[in-house]
Amino acid sequence: MAEKKIAIVTGGVRRLGGLISLGLLNAGYAVAAIHNGLVPAEFEVKTKGLDFLSIPADLSDVNQTRYSELIEIAKHHFKSDIHVLVNNAAIIEETDFLTCTPADWDRIFSINLKSVFFFSQAVALDMTKNEISGNIVLISDTAGSLTWPHYSIYNLTKTGVSQLTRIMAKTLAPFIRVNAVAPGTIIPFEGADDAWMEAARQRSVLKKIGNPEDVVKLIRVILETEFMTGSVLTVDGGRSLI
Ligand SMILES: NC(=O)c1ccc[n+]([C@@H]2O[C@H](COP(=O)([O-])OP(=O)(O)OC[C@H]3O[C@@H](n4cnc5c(N)ncnc54)[C@H](OP(=O)(O)O)[C@@H]3O)[C@@H](O)[C@H]2O)c1
Repeated sequence: MAEKKIAIVTGGVRRLGGLISLGLLNAGYAVAAIHNGLVPAEFEVKTKGLDFLSIPADLSDVNQTRYSELIEIAKHHFKSDIHVLVNNAAIIEETDFLTCTPADWDRIFSINLKSVFFFSQAVALDMTKNEISGNIVLISDTAGSLTWPHYSIYNLTKTGVSQLTRIMAKTLAPFIRVNAVAPGTIIPFEGADDAWMEAARQRSVLKKIGNPEDVVKLIRVILETEFMTGSVLTVDGGRSLI
């Protein structure tokens, strides 16, 4: 059993979350990834033999008792304490303001903001009880500071994530630091065609799509930078300047 510090990564078995999990494993953490689908076979191969645990759970089913249980599963497995939480899980979905429904609102808010709020609360209470000087990292989006009517609900959740970063940073100081990364397009959606890719490139000042490893690097910088809290670090190729 590991005696390493534990990092929990939500949605940590595929795409950006999978890369964050691997980055934290490389940085010496034991990683517990909470995810709602199957673990991709190639990710199982990459994490075989490492201090990695996948915990299937639907985080949109917001329940404080269940959240505490998920934390205990990770702690019991690794026989250590939670030092890092990366809130990565989200639904990225188009919802036009004029046609979206309350069901769309509930589905997207429950995972993108409500679960981030209450899972972070559960982790913060656990860190506080165990006197851990931990880190909570949120994944926002450059959308959090822009106006996207066609992604109205997603846009609002990410604005909320950026503000929640500051709220938690003030609440949890001085022992727990809270920061966020706000990427622009770094991993296109599955099925994105050439026209979509070109449009995404044109939206950034640097005229390119970002590299998700930049987000992984920034998370490591956040963890190592002890004078940083309440920051939302934008990595969007200058998209928010337009
Ligand atoms: N992709 C980009 O270019 C981009 C740009 C800006 C910001 N971001 C942000 O970066 C993060 C990751 O983006 P991504 O493109 O990798 O997203 P993604 O492919 O949609 O993956 C999101 C992850 O969230 C998990 N998830 C969704 N609903 C869940 C639930 N109810 N319970 C538990 N886990 C759940 C999924 O796990 P399962 O698949 O196992 O269900 C999935 O691994 C998101 O917060 C997104 O808003 C991404």
